[in-house]
Order: sequence, then C-alpha cells, then structure tokens
Amino acid sequence: MLLPSRKVFYCILLVLMSLVSYHAFKTYNFTNIISFDYKSSVTLKKVIENVAGASKSDMKYILQWTSPTNVPFVYMGQGQEGFIDRKCPYTNCFVTADRSFLSDHSKFDIIVFAGPEAVGLYSLPTNRSPHQKYVFATIESSHNYPVCSNRFDGYFNWTWTYNLDSEVQWGYFAIRNSNGDKVGPKKQMHWMKLEDMDPVSEEFKNGLKTKTKAAAWFVSNCYTASHREALVKELKSEMNKYGMDLDVYGKCGDLKCPNQNVKDCDKLLKDTYYYYLSFENSSSEDYVTEKLLHALENDVVPIVYGGANYTRFMPDGIYLNAKELDVKTLVSKMNEGITNADKYAEYFRWKNHYSYHRQFESSDTDPYCLFCTHLNNEEMVNKTTIYKDFRKWWDPPERC
Ligand SMILES: *[C@@H]1O[C@H](CO)[C@@H](O)[C@H](O)[C@H]1NC(C)=O
Ligand SMILES: *[C@@H]1O[C@H](CO)[C@@H](O)[C@H](O)[C@H]1NC(C)=O
Ligand SMILES: *[C@@H]1O[C@H](CO)[C@@H](O)[C@H](O)[C@H]1NC(C)=O
Ligand SMILES: *[C@@H]1O[C@H](CO)[C@@H](O)[C@H](O)[C@H]1NC(C)=O
Ligand SMILES: *[C@@H]1O[C@H](CO)[C@@H](O)[C@H](O)[C@H]1NC(C)=O
Repeated sequence: MLLPSRKVFYCILLVLMSLVSYHAFKTYNFTNIISFDYKSSVTLKKVIENVAGASKSDMKYILQWTSPTNVPFVYMGQGQEGFIDRKCPYTNCFVTADRSFLSDHSKFDIIVFAGPEAVGLYSLPTNRSPHQKYVFATIESSHNYPVCSNRFDGYFNWTWTYNLDSEVQWGYFAIRNSNGDKVGPKKQMHWMKLEDMDPVSEEFKNGLKTKTKAAAWFVSNCYTASHREALVKELKSEMNKYGMDLDVYGKCGDLKCPNQNVKDCDKLLKDTYYYYLSFENSSSEDYVTEKLLHALENDVVPIVYGGANYTRFMPDGIYLNAKELDVKTLVSKMNEGITNADKYAEYFRWKNHYSYHRQFESSDTDPYCLFCTHLNNEEMVNKTTIYKDFRKWWDPPERC
C-alpha cells in the first residue's frame, strides 16, 4: 500500500519541480548572462545572443520632456510614425510625451529636451537611471538661445544640434561628392582645391549671361543679434560708388518677390543676380542655415556672414566672406566678378564635384532618422558620456 502513495508523491514532486524551473527560466534575466565573459566560446555567445534577442524588446523609448507641439518636436511624430513615414533605416524608436507611458520616466532609454524651452523649465525629471541618455536638442542658434544657468552642467549625455561636435547632427543641409556619398559638413573637410576642379561648361557659362544686377537679400527679420543690418547699410553705400544695386526683398526691404511664390522668387534670383547675401541672423559656431543653400541652389555666389568657420561648409574660392573682408575689399571683389565673366564662372567649378542638399531630402541625412540610427549604435549607446561644462560647450564666449 506504500508503493502507490510514494508514486503519487514522486509524481507531485516532479510536477512541482517542473513548475519551479519553468518559472525560473521565464523570469531569468538574460542580460546578466551576457555580461559574463564568454568571448572564448563563440558558439555559446551566439546562442546567448539569440536568446537575449528573443527575450528583450528592441524598441528604443524616447520621452519628450518639453512640449511635443513646439518646433522641433512637432515634426518628430508620435510612436514610430515619424520614422516609418520618413522611411528611416531604423524605425524601432518610439516617441511619446506621456511621462507615465512606461510606469515611470526613469524607464525610458532617452529623454529629449528642446533647448529653447529647457532653459526656462522649472520641473526637471527626478530619479534618473544611469543607463538613460538625456539629450539637448535644438536647431536654434546658441547666440539666440544661450543656456546661462549652471543646472545643466553635467546634465546632458548627448546633444542633437547643428554644432558639428554634436553626437547627432541636426544640420540644415548635407554635402555630397560626385559619387553621391555624404561628405559634409564636418570639422575637417578635405576639399578639392579650386584649381584642381574641372572648369564649368560653355553652356553653363552662357547661362550666367542673363544676370544683370549685383546682389539680392531676402530677409524677414530686420533687427538681429548679428547686427547684419548695419553691415548691409555700409555695403550698400560702398556698392553705390561702383553703381551696383543691392536689392532687398521681404519685410525689411521695398521689393516683393513675383507672385510671392518661392519658385518664381528663386528663378528671379538665378536669372538676375550675381551675389546673394547669406547673412545669418546670429553669430554662433557652426551655425549655417538654409540661407547659404538658397544661394548655392540658384547659381548665385553667396556672400556669407556668421559665426561659423566656413571652410567646414564650402571649398575656398566659391564664396565671399563679409566677416573676414573689409567692406571696400569685399565690394571690389564683387566688382571683379561682375566685370569678368571668366572669373565669375570660376565660382561654380565646385558643381562638377559636389552637391548641396536639404537635410530632409534623404533618410541618411534626415535629423530624425539619424537620431533613431544613433540609438541603434550599441557602441555609442554603451559609452558613458557627459557634457560636464555644458555652458562652455554651448554658449558663445561672453554671451551669458
Ligand atoms: C536585467 O539586468 C540588467 C543588468 O543587471 C538590468 O539593467 C535590467 O533592468 C534587468 N531586467 C529585468 C527585466 O529585471
Ligand atoms: C577653420 O577650420 C579649419 C579646419 O577645421 C582650421 O584648419 C582653421 O584653422 C579654422 N579657422 C579658424 C579661423 O578657426
Ligand atoms: C534665425 O534664422 C533661423 C533660420 O532661418 C530661423 O529658424 C530663426 O527663427 C531665426 N531667428 C530669428 C530670431 O530671427
Ligand atoms: C553594449 O552593451 C550590451 C549590454 O550590456 C551588450 O550586450 C553589447 O554587446 C554591448 N555592445 C557593444 C558594441 O559594446
Ligand atoms: C548620463 O549623465 C549622467 C549625469 O552626469 C551620468 O550620471 C550617467 O552616467 C550618464 N549616462 C550615460 C549612459 O551616459
């Protein structure tokens, strides 16, 4: 009579043991296994990676701490939609502004802060997890939106800005070589020298013959931090001496684009003008906006003015820099181009070797795609990085 009861006992024991081990298997944290050093055994490593891949969600969760309705987050989309709509190479990023979407905000992989808004923010996240990345994001210039408070020193792990040092680039445009590879902008550019570039075709040179007026400026903000308006006044009077016109379009000038339409406006620029004032509204390192692209896209030579080191953005000899040249020299160089068709054509040799593109044109330069791509770069994600002296990194000298 003892035998069947012992059988039952073993039976129950067996069931219990399987339940316990099943539970242990289910709740075992495979992340811990991976942190052991299994490098010696490639096969075992592969097996574990596969298990971890299957058990761990691959989604990267991004929390927008500042308003999702303000620029630039407003174009980021909610959930994965922004990445899917843009056909990004990685779409496994999930965006929300709902702080309780994952039980608690310390569970997010990333918390992003829009720079201009973060400056005045009274409530910052509490209980921060050491694995999280806090990201400072902005396309506005540091001069217009400096961060003067010390509370962001040692706060951000990454930045997502136009600054060429930022982990994730949020540039206004991208530069490609003739193979279509993305080559810039970046800090150390290896441009071809102007004299090594192929000359422009006769056909292109003939196309430039329609130009009749010296320079145009399209502008909507009349009083800027860069005080470009004062320089323009000076420039205008020096140009007058040569009988050159500086036509000002938009809110701050007396001229209006034909039909107030971008396409007609661009055509007017291309057909009529030799030079275009690509004057930034503020002076910050690496801050070069669509104002430059506007000239390059329309076969007009840009006259730049800003805080950037322009060698990171253009080869020498294809533009004039109003910050480096005094007004007299600048205008005399402008005159040289206008009076000498061969000399003027030289400004366009770059077109045989490089092209400039809006950042949103393709997924390998789209700032939102780049952000998700970056989150999938394990090496960068694993690395602990901290902006210790954030103000020194971001603010122009003596701005605060
Ligand atoms: C698993 O372990 C890792 C590293 O110790 C930890 O970061 C993670 O939160 C753990 N996951 C779970 C589900 O407990
Ligand atoms: C501009 O950048 C280039 C390349 O990084 C550097 O060689 C040059 O010294 C810089 N010029 C100035 C004025 O900082
Ligand atoms: C400066 O120019 C940028 C780029 O065009 C624009 O986004 C920004 O609103 C302007 N800021 C001011 C203060 O005019
Ligand atoms: C990054 O860290 C994870 C988790 O600790 C690890 O599985 C992965 O191999 C690391 N990747 C790199 C490229 O260091
Ligand atoms: C992010 O920065 C914080 C604050 O300095 C730091 O404690 C943390 O280790 C950093 N984390 C990563 C993942 O870089």
